[in-house]
Amino acid sequence: IDLKKVENGVSSAISAEEYRDLAGLSTRENSTVSITVVGASGDLAKKKIFPALFALYYEDCLPEHFTIFGYARSKMTDTELRNMVSKTLTCRIDKRENCSEKMEQFLGRCFYHSGQYDSEENFAELDKEIKKHEAGRLSNRLFYLSIPPNIFMDVVKCASKSASSANGWTRVIVEKPFGQDSESSAALTRGLKQFLVEDQIFRIDHYLGKELVENLSVLRFSNLVFEPLWSRQYIRNVQLIFSEDFGTEGRGGYFDNYGIIRDIMQNHLLQMLALFAMETPISLDAEDIRNEKVKVLRSMKPLQLEDVVIGQYKSHTKGGFTYPAYTDDKTVPRDSLTPTFAAAVLFIDNARWDGVPFLMKAGKALHTRRTEIRVQFRHVPGNLYRSFGTDLDRATNELVIRVQPDEAIYLKINNKIPGLGMRLDRSNLNLLYAARYSKEIPDAYERLLLDAIEGERRLFIRSDELEAAWALFTPLLKELEEKRIAPELYPYGSRGPVGAHYLAAKHKIRWG
Ligand code: NDP
Ligand code: BG6
Repeated sequence: IDLKKVENGVSSAISAEEYRDLAGLSTRENSTVSITVVGASGDLAKKKIFPALFALYYEDCLPEHFTIFGYARSKMTDTELRNMVSKTLTCRIDKRENCSEKMEQFLGRCFYHSGQYDSEENFAELDKEIKKHEAGRLSNRLFYLSIPPNIFMDVVKCASKSASSANGWTRVIVEKPFGQDSESSAALTRGLKQFLVEDQIFRIDHYLGKELVENLSVLRFSNLVFEPLWSRQYIRNVQLIFSEDFGTEGRGGYFDNYGIIRDIMQNHLLQMLALFAMETPISLDAEDIRNEKVKVLRSMKPLQLEDVVIGQYKSHTKGGFTYPAYTDDKTVPRDSLTPTFAAAVLFIDNARWDGVPFLMKAGKALHTRRTEIRVQFRHVPGNLYRSFGTDLDRATNELVIRVQPDEAIYLKINNKIPGLGMRLDRSNLNLLYAARYSKEIPDAYERLLLDAIEGERRLFIRSDELEAAWALFTPLLKELEEKRIAPELYPYGSRGPVGAHYLAAKHKIRWG
């Protein structure tokens, strides 16, 4: 039957998947999901993907019929894969609970197939293995590309030709980096689209799966007190801060080709910014949200050199221990100029945010580990209490969304110190997650994997978002590299280059 649907006046054919959904045929009983982790021998698979899949299984979130395949070149038996995977599985839902039985059941659903990434034949063998477990049910297949980006295309080609589902959906989760600049990212998108349609591609930015980032829209759109303040009229500046207290340990080889701007700013911080600043979407539908995010990105001007400060950590001795410099890593060239720190000021040229600086700061080997969004509000006009004990600059309200660690949302307010006198101090209205919610917060990968299985695209990056994000950073990255701009060196474990403070000061801002 040739069925059609009409959306926004445009008529198109209904896909097999949509037809089954409409006809109510996609039931748990007659369908199965096969998840193939490509690059299963690697770091991300062990650290994040298998543990997230187990957590979903433990919480009964996976479909009744599912199978997990590890795929990589390394030779391994099913038992060896299970042994490897079992080392990183934890009962994170409740650490006191004994989940060994569930773990055994989960591991019993994990299999391994060794093959080359560019061999259609090897993927055809994988297809045969998967089919055995599908047992004639409706076949849905998810491929998680947990591999270096230079082999994405080989895998997508081979998997789509030899191992995609014949009667259900096939989806592919792609890990960052999505290219190195506008051109390479566009080439990757074009390449992927030779074999997949946009709806099959799930570009992961795991920051979008973090609890507090998910909560951003809830906070703003479901509380009357915030949305009216969310504009240039009340907000003085917004800061997006990512800081790690360790260096590139073990990942220097990868990192040196990318640097902190590509690794953190162009994706994790920019995505948070877009979610923070977007207009109210028409609905919570993935396309409506992504439409609003892309509008924010397109309203921003590409970064200029004077809007940015870059840094690189150098060795530092503390308490008798010497912390290494970035260039001490054997996989990093001694004369590398790759930034491990960057601070930048961005502006959104629209009616809501005109003139409001959005500051970003991202760095490795700093004094602390934290990711936060800090919203500094304007001064109270004609403040009656300005002479009562708080200095003017510090006395403005600040809303802090602490993404990690110790997830929290707190609002800094001015408050009267109890007593007969009139003295003010700064206090926090504090929602500390650990105090309010006893359940452990799911790892970002759990939410994202579940969404990919359920076909929910809200937290994945659409190709036009990616294009707009690269357009902002590509000219700057080119200039930094062509002019070989030297990063300011900062000691391992410090607060980063002082240049970042001057950059903020240029806009009369103090970092939070
Ligand atoms: P790995 O370097 O551990 O690679 C994963 C697997 O890919 C390896 O076990 C290896 O399997 C295969 N592989 C590695 N290098 C090559 C190569 N040059 N040619 C062919 N195959 C190769 O990567 P990660 O697990 O760390 O990361 C996977 C993906 O996720 C990457 O795109 C990375 O950028 C991204 N990512 C990783 C994060 C992390 O914390 N690790 C965080 C965010 C993103 P075998 O030899 O058995 O075939
Ligand atoms: C990754 C970056 O995307 O995010 C890493 O490539 C970084 O360099 C990591 O360490 C941080 O993620 P999280 O979830 O540990 O904050």
